[in-house]
Amino acid sequence: MRNVTSDNITDTFLNYFGEDTDPRLKTIMESLAKHLHAFARETNLTHEEWQKGLDVVRQAGKITTPERDEFVLLSDVLGLSSLVDMINSPDKGTSSSVLGPFHISNPPKMEMGADLKGDNEGELVLVTGRVLDTDGKPIAGATLDIWQTAANGLYSSQDPEQDTYSFHALFTTAEDGRYAFTTVKPVVYTVPTDGPVGELLKATGRHPWRPSHLHYIIKAEGFRSLVTEVFPDDDPYLDQDTVFGVRDDLVMHYLPQPAESFPDQGFVLSRKVDQAYLRVDFDLTLTKSVSTA
Ligand code: BEZ
Ligand code: FE
Repeated sequence: MRNVTSDNITDTFLNYFGEDTDPRLKTIMESLAKHLHAFARETNLTHEEWQKGLDVVRQAGKITTPERDEFVLLSDVLGLSSLVDMINSPDKGTSSSVLGPFHISNPPKMEMGADLKGDNEGELVLVTGRVLDTDGKPIAGATLDIWQTAANGLYSSQDPEQDTYSFHALFTTAEDGRYAFTTVKPVVYTVPTDGPVGELLKATGRHPWRPSHLHYIIKAEGFRSLVTEVFPDDDPYLDQDTVFGVRDDLVMHYLPQPAESFPDQGFVLSRKVDQAYLRVDFDLTLTKSVSTA
């Protein structure tokens, strides 16, 4: 097309593909161009606004390091990460939720009943539950990779005061599919706001808070891996998570318990708890992986 106009530019773009373009890439690029062009038309995008948009991307590039990915954060606050997650989740089983940037590889393996709290500040919580299949049968040998913030709202990778692996642990379920440990009550925290995403949130009148949560990655042979989070039902940000991670079935309840009710055995803290604590029972259901055979 020689005479490219605002009316024919989208079709012109669609005609530029080489014949041997990967079909899936073609589908994605066609759709991207159609929606981008429609967006510019619908908003009557000015040069200044277009440059401002590019500047967000430029700044994201400048601040991104292997430890801190501003592009993922941008995708998170735009709702794109959660949407992609939901599009690709099975209908059955526990819902997935965002991974976030604070997961650490090779967390320490821990025995059932381990204590993640140690001397750290915070309210004591006993977390337990089972990993089940969609028929409600326990899954033995499932691994649960669990991580959370300390009581100051920081993950270990953000906080020089914490040990590298504090509040990170890997558990393996026994025959009954059960997992159990003690930790501190997770707290609300903000996503990083010192980059262009923080500026964008501010400019659009949005807060940067996430409801408190516990992260899980659960893996078991023959099942789809599940990346998810669970949130308490009394959290003030439950209905306004800035990264859109909350789903109804990921909401749990803290049951306040007297010190005497702490189990006498099975926990590192058994017979050592002399204060009231909170208890959470949360089962997670995995779906079978799709066989490629
Ligand atoms: C998190 O839950 O760790 C998280 C998720 C998305 C953005 C920032 C943090
Ligand atoms: Fe988190």
